[in-house]
Amino acid sequence: MSFTFGCPDRTTIEQLQRARSCVVVSVTDAAEATLSDARGADALCVQGPLAGGHRATHQVAQEPRATGLEVLLRDVRDVCDLPLVAAGGITRREHIVAAMEAGAKAVQIGTVLLRSPESGASPLHKDALASDRFSETMVTCAFSGRFARGLVNRFMRDYHDVAPAAYPEVNQLTRPLRAAGAAAGDPDGIALWAGTGYRNAPVAAAAEIITTLWGEMQVKCPN
Ligand SMILES: Cc1cc2nc3c(=O)[nH]c(=O)nc-3n(C[C@H](O)[C@H](O)[C@H](O)COP(=O)(O)O)c2cc1C
Repeated sequence: MSFTFGCPDRTTIEQLQRARSCVVVSVTDAAEATLSDARGADALCVQGPLAGGHRATHQVAQEPRATGLEVLLRDVRDVCDLPLVAAGGITRREHIVAAMEAGAKAVQIGTVLLRSPESGASPLHKDALASDRFSETMVTCAFSGRFARGLVNRFMRDYHDVAPAAYPEVNQLTRPLRAAGAAAGDPDGIALWAGTGYRNAPVAAAAEIITTLWGEMQVKCPN
C-alpha cells in the first residue's frame, strides 16, 4: 500500500503490516525520508523534481525542492537503509541506470505511459502531449492548490501567480472551470499533467513500453 502527500502514523503502518501489506511512502527530501523510516515504512518512493503530476511533498505549502533525482537518492540513502523506488523523469535506459547507481532498487514511470491505450488520460490530454502548441512543463498550484507539473497552457499562465497553496480548496474551486474546458474540448482549459519526459511518451501498449525499457536494460524479465 503506497501513500503520497504525507506519511501515516506509526499505528496505522503497523496495522497495515499486520494485515500483510507492504507500506511504501513517497518522499521528496531527506527529512521526509527520515520521518517515514522512523514511523516504520517498508520502502520509500523517492520522487524527483522532473515528475509529472502532483509533487509528493508532505506539507501542502512546501515549495518542492529542485534537487535532481540522483542527488536526492543519495541524500536519502545517507539517512536510511530502506529499499528505494526512484521516480521522476525516467523515460530511458540511461535514467534507470543512473537511478540504480544512485541507490534505487526499482524505478517508477508515469509520464512515459500517458499516451498508451491503457492510460486514463483523456484524448484531449494525450493529443496535447504530442502537440507543438505546448512546448514546456512547469510546476504550479494553479489547478489544485498543490504543486504539480504539467504542460504550460492558458489556464496555468492565467492563474499561476495568484493561486494559493491550498489543497483541496483550490481543486474544488477550479473543478467547474476544468469541467467546462473538457466539455468544450479546450486543452487550454484543463490540467495537462506531464513530467519533463513527455516528448518520449510513445503511442504504444504499456507492456510494449515496459518491455522496451527492460530490453534496453539487457536484463531478463522475472517470471
Ligand atoms: C497524469 C499523472 C497523474 C498522476 N497521478 C498521481 C496520483 O494520483 N497519485 C500519485 O501518488 N502520483 C501521481 N502521479 C505521479 C506519479 O506517481 C509519479 O511520481 C510520476 O509520474 C513519476 O514521474 P514521471 O511522470 O516523470 O515518470 C501522477 C503522474 C502523472 C503524469
